[in-house]
Amino acid sequence: MTSVLRVLLIIGGGIAAYKCLELIRQLREAGLSVTPVMTRAAQQFVTPLSVAALCGEQVRVEIFDPHEEARMDHIQLSRQSDLVAVVPATADLLAKMANGLADDLASTVLLATDKPVLVAPAMNVRMWQHPATQHNVKTLRHHGVHFVGPENGPMACGETGPGRMSEPHSILSAICHFPAQCLLCGRRILVTSGPTWEPVDPVRVIANRSSGRQGTEIAKALQARGAEVVFVTGPASVALPPNAQIVAVETADEMLYATRAALPVDAAVFAAAVTDWKADAVRGSKIRKSEAAPPNLRLRENPDILAEISQLTETRPSLVIGFAAETENVIENALGKLRQKGCDWIVANDVSAGSGILGGDENQPVIITENGENQLPRQSKAEFAGHLADLIAAELLAQ
Ligand code: C5P
Repeated sequence: MTSVLRVLLIIGGGIAAYKCLELIRQLREAGLSVTPVMTRAAQQFVTPLSVAALCGEQVRVEIFDPHEEARMDHIQLSRQSDLVAVVPATADLLAKMANGLADDLASTVLLATDKPVLVAPAMNVRMWQHPATQHNVKTLRHHGVHFVGPENGPMACGETGPGRMSEPHSILSAICHFPAQCLLCGRRILVTSGPTWEPVDPVRVIANRSSGRQGTEIAKALQARGAEVVFVTGPASVALPPNAQIVAVETADEMLYATRAALPVDAAVFAAAVTDWKADAVRGSKIRKSEAAPPNLRLRENPDILAEISQLTETRPSLVIGFAAETENVIENALGKLRQKGCDWIVANDVSAGSGILGGDENQPVIITENGENQLPRQSKAEFAGHLADLIAAELLAQ
């Protein structure tokens, strides 16, 4: 992320468009760069000349302008911004966004962008309350679009109620605080978590001590930054992340199936402690103690989910993160895993007896990539999750 926040400002055609001039002034004063796009209707309310003068940049209006498209096309406009703000967001613009219409530059940019989008709706109270608009708002929220306002109050049409656009200082504040809450808006991220249980017979399993705490904290931290999280979890002993799309599984085979089904995703974090082996043959009835001798369990290897997803071609997430629980030669072994499995980052932990990490509240992680290692101090799993989520956000923004 660059140090100056670059806002792509789409000005919609409503009477509240006049407030954009004050908003642009405040954004510039706060040190943000503003690239303006106006709809045709917006130009009926404020002149492109005033907008351009305040932004210090030319206003873009037409999609089929040969000079403009050659210099900076609609994809480039989105690429060169950190977030897109739609002010005022009219009922028509919201409807176009919700339905994926792209018949002018503003709506085309909005369909083409993968950047966080913030909208400041402004319209007559009945237009706002109409089921069609409310349905569109719901759809857009589901797509990760962030809303500021509308407020309750008197409107230009003489009526009073919800529909009045938020004041420029509130929109400025939402834009400035937006990145932290919304660094991962519009991103879909897979997290595997917890242990897996491999059945031996109907009552016995091969398991491990993983609680699922680290994976749960990571899911919560990703959600706090706006990501949509698919959480594939084995039988965990901690509360699952609220609002994540939970897929509960038991065995490694089920986890692999659920993980494949969750694709495509932007990033995948494999925090699960997958049991390495499973019983070669699962007995259909309980193995009885009275059997002649203690049973000899024949085991075979489970699929390596992390390796399999890392080695995909078309549907490989653009960032794949594995975990490595080690008891000796932590960094060396973790680097070996990074290469052997083909993931992008490995979070290595020393889980030797007495470290209290497996099943505990704290972690002492080292993040290993092909470019080196970053040893972090001992910290709570929640703290580490926040740090990792910020790193993921920065990496996805840079890609
Ligand atoms: O090889 P090892 O089990 O130590 O690798 C740990 C990493 O690989 C973790 O990210 C874990 O979630 C993942 N893994 C996996 N499927 C397996 C074994 C491990 O996804 N069968």
